[in-house]
Amino acid sequence: MAAASEYDHFADIYQVWTDTAASTTANLAFYVDTYLKTEGPVVELGVGDGRIAVAAAARRRSMIGVDLSQAMLDRCRARAAGAGVLDRLTLLHADFRSFQLDEPADLIALPYHSLGHLVALDDKRRAIAHVFSQLAPGGRFVFDDFFMTPGLMDHMRKVQLRAEYRSATGADTLLWVTSLVDETTQSIRVVTWEDELDAAGMQVARRYRRLSLSWLEPAQARTLLTEAGFAIESCFGDFAGTPFAEGTAHEQIWIARRPA
Ligand SMILES: C[S@@+](CC[C@H](N)C(=O)[O-])C[C@H]1O[C@@H](n2cnc3c(N)ncnc32)[C@H](O)[C@@H]1O
Repeated sequence: MAAASEYDHFADIYQVWTDTAASTTANLAFYVDTYLKTEGPVVELGVGDGRIAVAAAARRRSMIGVDLSQAMLDRCRARAAGAGVLDRLTLLHADFRSFQLDEPADLIALPYHSLGHLVALDDKRRAIAHVFSQLAPGGRFVFDDFFMTPGLMDHMRKVQLRAEYRSATGADTLLWVTSLVDETTQSIRVVTWEDELDAAGMQVARRYRRLSLSWLEPAQARTLLTEAGFAIESCFGDFAGTPFAEGTAHEQIWIARRPA
C-alpha cells in the first residue's frame, strides 16, 4: 500500500491551480505530442488528475498512470470517465521509486516539475534508477524541472493572487500563493491559501495548504541520468524544443534513452 501524499490535501484545488499556471498550456501540448508519437507502452509518473493523460487518451493513446495520491487518482478516473476514455487508462497507486509495470515501457514521462516532489537528492537518484529499470532497451525517459534563476526565485517569493473563482460549494473564493525558497537545499515550500468571502466581501474562512518541491541544477540532472545508465538525447530550454542555454532557458526538459 502506498503512503499518503501531500496531494491528498491539494486535489480539490488542483484544476484551478493548473488552469491558472504559466506553463500548463505548453507542457500539455508537448507531452501529448510525445505520447502520441511513441509506439509501445507509455507511462506518466505523477499522472495527477489526468490533465495530460486524459487528453492523450482522447486521441486514442492508451496510457498507464502512476500516482502516490489516491485523491488525485480518483479525480483522474472521474475525468477519464467524463471523457469516455476510462478503458484506455491503467492507473497504479504507487511511488516513483518503486512502481512495477507488467511489461517494460517505451516511454516514461514525469511532467510538470514533479521529480521535485522528491526533495532529497538521493530520492531523485533512486527514482531515476528505478525508471531506467522499468524501461525497455531503447525506451525513453522524459521529464522537466524548474530552471531556477534569481528572477524565478523572486517571483516565487512574492505573494500572488492566483485565481478568483466559485468553489465546489459555491463560495466566492480567492486563491493566493507564495513560496519559501531555500537556495542552500534547493527546496521550495509552496504555501497556498483560499479566502472565502461573503456577499459583502468579508472573509468568512481561510484554508492553508502546503506542498514540498525542489529543483535540480542542470549539471546535477545530467549526472543523475548518466549515473543511472541513460544516454542523454536532448535538453530543451522550453516546450517549443529550443536547445537549452543558460541565458535563455525557461525550463530544463530532458530526453534520455536507455541504451538498446
Ligand atoms: C504537479 S502534479 C502533476 C500532475 C500531472 N502530471 C500534470 O502535469 O498536471 C504532481 C503529481 O505527482 C504525484 N506525486 C508526488 N510525489 C510522488 C511520488 N513520490 N510517487 C508518485 N506520485 C507522486 C502527486 O500526487 C501529483 O499528482
